[in-house]
Amino acid sequence: MSPILRDGEAHRHVGADCSAPLIRLEHVVRAYGRGAAVVTALAGVDLTITQGEFVAVVGPSGSGKSTFLNIIGCLDTPSSGRYRFKGIDTGTLDVTGRAMMRRSSIGFVFQRFHLIKRASALDNVELPLLYQSVPRGERRKSATAVLAAVGLSQRQHHTPDQLSGGQQQRVAIARALITRPDLLIADEPTGALDSVTGAEIMQLLKQLHRERGTTVVIVTHDPSVASQASRTICFTDGHIKPEHFDDAGSRT
Ligand SMILES: Nc1ncnc2c1ncn2[C@@H]1O[C@H](COP(=O)(O)OP(=O)(O)OP(=O)(O)O)[C@@H](O)[C@H]1O
Ligand SMILES: [Mg+2]
Repeated sequence: MSPILRDGEAHRHVGADCSAPLIRLEHVVRAYGRGAAVVTALAGVDLTITQGEFVAVVGPSGSGKSTFLNIIGCLDTPSSGRYRFKGIDTGTLDVTGRAMMRRSSIGFVFQRFHLIKRASALDNVELPLLYQSVPRGERRKSATAVLAAVGLSQRQHHTPDQLSGGQQQRVAIARALITRPDLLIADEPTGALDSVTGAEIMQLLKQLHRERGTTVVIVTHDPSVASQASRTICFTDGHIKPEHFDDAGSRT
């Protein structure tokens, strides 16, 4: 019944096309409300992101960045147009199908961490595996390893209020990565941190991207964060500004 095969390493959906780009939006529109009160948050977005890219999403407040993340993260669906994730037309999935897609293939990191207050770092990080019914021993082992990968081996039994902001964000990143997702989505992950801690979190994201090959899409208002991505997508009024390429075909 389950379209997900868990193999402890990568998770694949039946119907996924390995040769397809990871993310493909075709004329995606997302409108909120009706009639005169309608707000068009995304106004016909065409975009492809391939496996392994590190993409910064920038643009003024209200330009559609979070709406875009919600669509590519399968938390929301387009009002019209098509969104294909791993070649699968997400419009053909029901709520459960999208939830399974998220759990198996997508990790989320938020500005304000969203950790469970009374749970230890280990318990927070294990949570996505609990949803996948992974046995306790295996969960512990994976959570211990991924906490070590984000540099928090010494803090596994601490609760969020016993951790600094930067450490809490490391726990959130470990939680997002424990399922080995294809896509890591981060909405202003350095927005609640001081600049030094924010820079450390960026270093960590870049290192994990390099080592694991995870595709990263990160919204930021900070130009120094955006400049570290290999590609920048700029939203304005629900549209993407045209990207520029140099003579050699590289994005500028
Ligand atoms: N649930 C909603 N209902 C109605 N309008 C919404 C809703 N969510 C977002 N919008 C509107 O859609 C537009 C895009 O919002 P979005 O949250 O995507 O912007 P953003 O670029 O992430 O902004 P910020 O930088 O402030 O986070 C805005 O005009 C916003 O008011
Ligand atoms: Mg936003």
